[in-house]
Amino acid sequence: MSIREIITVPHPTLRRKARPVTRFDESLQTLIDDMVETMRDAPGVGLAAPQVNVPLRVIVVEYGDDEEAPPKLYVVVNPEITRHTQETEVGVEGCLSIPGLLGDVERFSRITVRGQSRRGQPMKLKLSGWTARIFQHEIDHLNGVLFTDKALSIYKADAVPEDTQVA
Ligand code: NI
Repeated sequence: MSIREIITVPHPTLRRKARPVTRFDESLQTLIDDMVETMRDAPGVGLAAPQVNVPLRVIVVEYGDDEEAPPKLYVVVNPEITRHTQETEVGVEGCLSIPGLLGDVERFSRITVRGQSRRGQPMKLKLSGWTARIFQHEIDHLNGVLFTDKALSIYKADAVPEDTQVA
């Protein structure tokens, strides 16, 4: 495994629509392992393949809404939000590809995500809370969308506050 460079705005790959994964081969496994290591090193709670300059529909998320339990690692290939509540919540987001900025972003409170595992097995996840927020942030990255496009307000952060998650 190795840590890859996280690209930042205005790198054009961040604005491209990523391609679906069709081959679950060794290079995909290496990409996923590297993304997990890169996310943990950053540190961040999520990472999308375009952030390491690979325009493929792959995301990794590591977060635990339950503070008592260890964070849970999710790897999802070709993720899609297939259902969501009408209810939304506003929360503070930051992005590893947009250093120094934070924003208040409105997201669906609960979502259902369908996709595939790293080996190509179909999967379905029902998510809520911050985990649902992180998934929406990462799936936006696959469509070339950044949190600053959606934020209700954006502000400078010299240091990311301790309770803020960046992805
Ligand atoms: Ni991000």
